[in-house]
Amino acid sequence: MCGIVGYTGHEQAAPILLDGLSKLEYRGYDSAGLAIEGKENIEVVKAKGRLRVLEEMTDNGNALSGTCGIGHTRWATHGVPSVVNAHPHCNKKKTIAVVHNGIIENYQSLKEHLIKKGYEFESETDTEVIAHLLDRYYEGEPLEAITKVMVRLNGSYALGILFEDHPGKVFAVRKDSPMIVGSAPEGNFIASDVPAILKYTRTVYFVNNMEIVCMEADNISFYNLDKEQIEKESTTIAWDAEAAEKGGYEHFMLKEIYEQPKAVQDTLSPRIKDGQIVLEELGMTEEEIKKLRRIYMIGCGSAYHVCISARYVLEKLTKIPVEVDLASEFRYRDPILEENSLVIVISQSGETADSIAALKEAKRKGVRVLGIVNVVGSSIAREADSVLYTWAGPEISVATTKAYSTQLAACYLIGIYFAKIRQNISDELYEKLVEELTKLPEKIQRVLGDKERIQWFANKFAASKDIFFIGRGLDYGTSMEGSLKLKEISYIHSEAYAAGELKHGTISLIEKGILVVGVATQPELYEKMISNMVEVKSRGAFLMGLTTYGNYSMEDTANFTVYVPKTESYFTTSLAVIPLQLFAYYVAIARGLDVDKPRNLAKSVTVE
Ligand code: F6R
Repeated sequence: MCGIVGYTGHEQAAPILLDGLSKLEYRGYDSAGLAIEGKENIEVVKAKGRLRVLEEMTDNGNALSGTCGIGHTRWATHGVPSVVNAHPHCNKKKTIAVVHNGIIENYQSLKEHLIKKGYEFESETDTEVIAHLLDRYYEGEPLEAITKVMVRLNGSYALGILFEDHPGKVFAVRKDSPMIVGSAPEGNFIASDVPAILKYTRTVYFVNNMEIVCMEADNISFYNLDKEQIEKESTTIAWDAEAAEKGGYEHFMLKEIYEQPKAVQDTLSPRIKDGQIVLEELGMTEEEIKKLRRIYMIGCGSAYHVCISARYVLEKLTKIPVEVDLASEFRYRDPILEENSLVIVISQSGETADSIAALKEAKRKGVRVLGIVNVVGSSIAREADSVLYTWAGPEISVATTKAYSTQLAACYLIGIYFAKIRQNISDELYEKLVEELTKLPEKIQRVLGDKERIQWFANKFAASKDIFFIGRGLDYGTSMEGSLKLKEISYIHSEAYAAGELKHGTISLIEKGILVVGVATQPELYEKMISNMVEVKSRGAFLMGLTTYGNYSMEDTANFTVYVPKTESYFTTSLAVIPLQLFAYYVAIARGLDVDKPRNLAKSVTVE
């Protein structure tokens, strides 16, 4: 949450910073601000609301001269969205400016200590303590002051810092919040995420925890906590700037929904060679895979829903028991982890605080961790024992779509690969599954072709107050994701239920006209699902059925039916989720909402 950028170079800084912030707005969008080193002092401009307010105030940055500065887009944690609480925050003399992403857990005690020393606070934020602490320890030597402050802060932070008497320099540090450094001929950059700087460079340095950056126009230096200079290798990012633009689509979400065939293809194809799944990236020997006794799958939000669906696939194929956990629960439940087990942490951003903590908990207990991650070089990618990248490209819309689909694809690969090595499946089934996997992108494309009908139906139900999703087995996992997509962007109350569970309480919520979406793609559970759908219909529900072509008897029960192509039943989530993503998108559009930036949310949840 919150996005930070910094630039120092040969160009005017403010337009570059605003451009960078516009690519980070998905991380927070309740207020924004800039600090620019002017000729004599640091000039700070802040605005409440979306970035465009700040853009208007500064004539898209042109009103601010100076070639060095920092910027911030905020997702409020401490204190309401307001100009005073917006970053950058400064010391009283306005000679030090700070932008911060993360949470300072001990800010209250630090604040009390500083107040006793005579410091005055303007805002309700935790960040302001950093500005005053820097002031307290600053005696003309930035590294000295920064390291003294770092050891006093508990919590997570990525910071961009300016010192008025060190013109042309941007300082940065990080602990448990993301931060990258970019290098280009026209100057150097810091940013919370790669899309912010892709327009200028693909040469990136990943900053590790407790490392300090000092950037000048033509030089970047890295230091450890002992103020010793350290060497770093740069990485070339494969994503291009175009991938992080809307490319003619009205919203990133729609663009990303449409990118799913390619994203899934890009995730699958490098790992399927001559009909064989090759997953050397897992770094596991056949012996280790054969010995596996349990798999723990962990994620948050949609990534958790991938875990739910993947459990059905992995258990059936590999016969290894799979436990699924929300990262926020796993990290505190002191889990008993069996020997010879594997923890799989799934995350698009690779920076989700709870998922990182779960990973650390697993490693602390001596269990091997595999990350399924989209952002190259992110914290989870670096801290896991091995990483299977999803090649979804940059996902900008807060509501995930293509990353979710690629995470599923990654899980299918693991399931089939393990099953083959453990000799759980015949050669014929292996071949059939791999072949079907390669057809998935084209089948997803076919589902996207049905968008007009879903759009029409979404318009019809856009004024709903409650919408329920029901399913069994894999379809329950799909229902959970469909329900989350809908509620997060349309603000309609929605719940997903295992269809067999309805009659144990929830069915009392069903009233005349309420929309219930029944997902029924699993042949062995189809009849059971129809019975559950009849149960809600007879209580007055309006039914949307979602099933595979051929199951035309669905129309005897459902009022509106959506069909997806047939595939191996293991993979149906990948097809059935598409109409549900489109449905959520079009409901939100019909309600006139900001689909890409839903209220109260941020793309990357780097706080607990
Ligand atoms: C929902 C959504 C979130 C994320 C969750 C985990 O559309 O995007 O629920 O799935 O915050 O984020 P990552 O995958 O970055 O760990």
